[in-house]
Amino acid sequence: MKQAIGIFDSGVGGLTVFKAIRQAFPHQDLIYFGDTARVPYGPKSPNTIIEYSVQNARFLLQQGIKTLIVACNTSSSVAIPHLKKLSKIPIIGVIDPGSEIAVRSSKNKRIGVIGTEGTIRSMAYSKAIKRLEPTAEVFSLACPLFVPIVEEGWQDHPIALKIVQEYLKPMKDNDIDTLVLGCTHYPLLSHVIRKYLGDKVKLVDSADAISEHLTELMPVEDDGQLGKDSFFVSDNEDKFASIASRILGKDLDALKRVRLFESWFVD
Ligand code: DGL
Repeated sequence: MKQAIGIFDSGVGGLTVFKAIRQAFPHQDLIYFGDTARVPYGPKSPNTIIEYSVQNARFLLQQGIKTLIVACNTSSSVAIPHLKKLSKIPIIGVIDPGSEIAVRSSKNKRIGVIGTEGTIRSMAYSKAIKRLEPTAEVFSLACPLFVPIVEEGWQDHPIALKIVQEYLKPMKDNDIDTLVLGCTHYPLLSHVIRKYLGDKVKLVDSADAISEHLTELMPVEDDGQLGKDSFFVSDNEDKFASIASRILGKDLDALKRVRLFESWFVD
C-alpha cells in the first residue's frame, strides 16, 4: 500500500491544485477532502477557519498520508502554524510557493494579489512577498464574487468579464506586472483576467506554484502503477461530482461523504 498525499480545500476549487499535482506525480496515490458542508471559508473569521482546517487535517492524517497540502488559500493564510502542531509530516500551504514565483517573475516589483476577504485580510501574501523582496510594492484586493461565478460555471458568461473589469481596474491603474491568483477558484477565470489585463501581466497560479514546489521536495517516483485517486466531501456529493468533472475533465470514481463533527459544544 502506497502512502498518499493528502490535499484539502474548503470545497471544489482545490481540485485545480489536485489536477496540477496529479499531472506532476502520476504514480502517487492522492486523497482529496473538500469541506463542501462549510464552504465558503473566505468570509469567515480566522478562528473558525483554523478550527475547520484542523478538523480537515485530522481526517486526512487518519488516512495515513505522508504529506499534507493545504490547497485552500484562506486556510493557508491563517492555519498552517496550527496544523504543523498536529503532525511531523510535511504540511505545505500555497502562500509561500505562490509568493516565490511572483517575486521571481516580477521585473518592476509591483505585484498584485487577489484572494478571498480572509486571505487578503490576513496579509499573508504581502508579508511573504516582502520577506522575499523587501522593495516590492504589493497591491492586495479581495474579489468575493469570483468564487460564486466559478461555482455557477459562468466563467465564459459575459458577466464574468464585467465583474473582472470592475474588480481589477485598480490593478491596471497600479501598473503591476505580476498578479497572484490567491484563491483556488481564480485559475478557472484566468482567461478572462488575461483578456482584461493583457499579456504583459504575468498570472501566478497557486496550483502550478505548489506542484512545482512539491517536485522540488519529493522525487517523482515511478513504480509502474498509476496512482489512485480518492475523494471525500462533507456534503453535496452530486454538486461536487458535477463541478469536479468540469474541472478535471473526467468523472470521479471514488467519492464518499464524511461527517467531521462528532460532538457539539458551546464556547
Ligand atoms: N478555497 C478558497 C480559497 O482558496 C476559496 C473558496 C472559499 O471561500 O472557501 O481561498
